[in-house]
Amino acid sequence: MDLYEYQARDLFEKHGVPTLRGIVATSAVQAEEAAAKLGTPIVVVKAQVKTGGRGKAGGVKLAKSPAEAAEKAEEILGLKIKDHTVRKVMVAEGADIAEEYYFSILLDRTKRRYLAMLSKEGGVEIEKLAAERPEALIRRSFSPLDGMTDTLARDMAYEAGFVEEDVAKLVPVFKQLYKVYTAEDATLVEVNPLVKTAQGDIIALDGKVTLDGNAEFRHSEHAALHDHGATDPLELKAQQMGLNYVKLDGSVGIIGNGAGLVMSTLDVVAYAGEDLPNQPKPANFLDIGGGANAEVMTNGLEVILGDPQVKSVFVNVFGGITACDEVAKGIVQAYKILASDGIEPKPLVVRLDGNNAELGRSILDDAHLPKLEQVSTMDAAARKAAELAE
Ligand SMILES: Nc1ncnc2c1ncn2[C@@H]1O[C@H](COP(=O)(O)OP(=O)(O)OP(=O)(O)O)[C@@H](O)[C@H]1O
Ligand SMILES: [Mg+2]
Repeated sequence: MDLYEYQARDLFEKHGVPTLRGIVATSAVQAEEAAAKLGTPIVVVKAQVKTGGRGKAGGVKLAKSPAEAAEKAEEILGLKIKDHTVRKVMVAEGADIAEEYYFSILLDRTKRRYLAMLSKEGGVEIEKLAAERPEALIRRSFSPLDGMTDTLARDMAYEAGFVEEDVAKLVPVFKQLYKVYTAEDATLVEVNPLVKTAQGDIIALDGKVTLDGNAEFRHSEHAALHDHGATDPLELKAQQMGLNYVKLDGSVGIIGNGAGLVMSTLDVVAYAGEDLPNQPKPANFLDIGGGANAEVMTNGLEVILGDPQVKSVFVNVFGGITACDEVAKGIVQAYKILASDGIEPKPLVVRLDGNNAELGRSILDDAHLPKLEQVSTMDAAARKAAELAE
């Protein structure tokens, strides 16, 4: 889960990382009140969206009075930054910046280690710096067993070109950020910019944190960080039904059992659609897992049919522990439930194979379900589903 800057700021504060005060606002009036409450001569109004490049897109603005903060909030709220609409801003204390640095810690899955990065030249041009002068970005791979030691922190700072006085101030901040990373089970902690103020203090002015969803069971407090407003409504519904669903951009709804089969179904459908004029693509990933019973099938179909982009649905099941006749019964019952809920079916292509496939097919044949047809191979079924979407 990616966090908003204000949520990252709160976690930083919790673990002793120096930050500035910030208050979230969802309207110009609230922004004005927030600025008055902060009471600093300069405040910064910052778009809260889960994407980078906010500053360059006009999503970070200085204000010299609460009234001006209201004006800036008015300009920023509703702005679109890389497809993310700004619904909240953070009004933060203004910093007197002398220098901007970059620091991050992330998970290096391939090496099974952590990676820390540091640059003396942070700020909004960091991507450009990393591409054009990679040597200015210090990278250090380290073991989770060792962690961010004093030695590592000092080495990095020296290598990046900091003088002793700054190194001494930076080392504890790197260690506090590492504390955020481990204590919160993050996979990314990034600070850009980490600044030195005119007074010589080190402060994290921006924060990006990604939390590891697999560790959520250890952090009941993280549940409150979920932002349901930003989640796709279909994904949210699927989540509440306990389905493994990911919304995609295409028009062919996909249901399968087992993540591997569903992944290959996505490929096959995309491939089948390539030759067609509108090139229909998969509309979603949905794995109904082993227990493909009527309830799961109904929920799955309900979510997929609720997607207005979906023009056809491909149910691809390989019967293993769950036999195909069970799946077929599930589909028949799902149709009944959906009909009683007033949900219109869309063209549905079913391919059943594996355990009890024959029996499953005859159950579907006998049920004479509207708009449903069976195709015996995966390739032909994918082709059919793509054509129907076309
Ligand atoms: N509290 C603040 N006081 C003064 N200046 C600030 C403050 N916050 C941000 N800035 C200035 O605005 C610039 C951009 O801010 P920030 O890093 O938060 O957004 P961004 O870099 O555009 O976002 P992203 O890191 O997502 O690309 C900073 O580099 C800094 O110069
Ligand atoms: Mg930034």
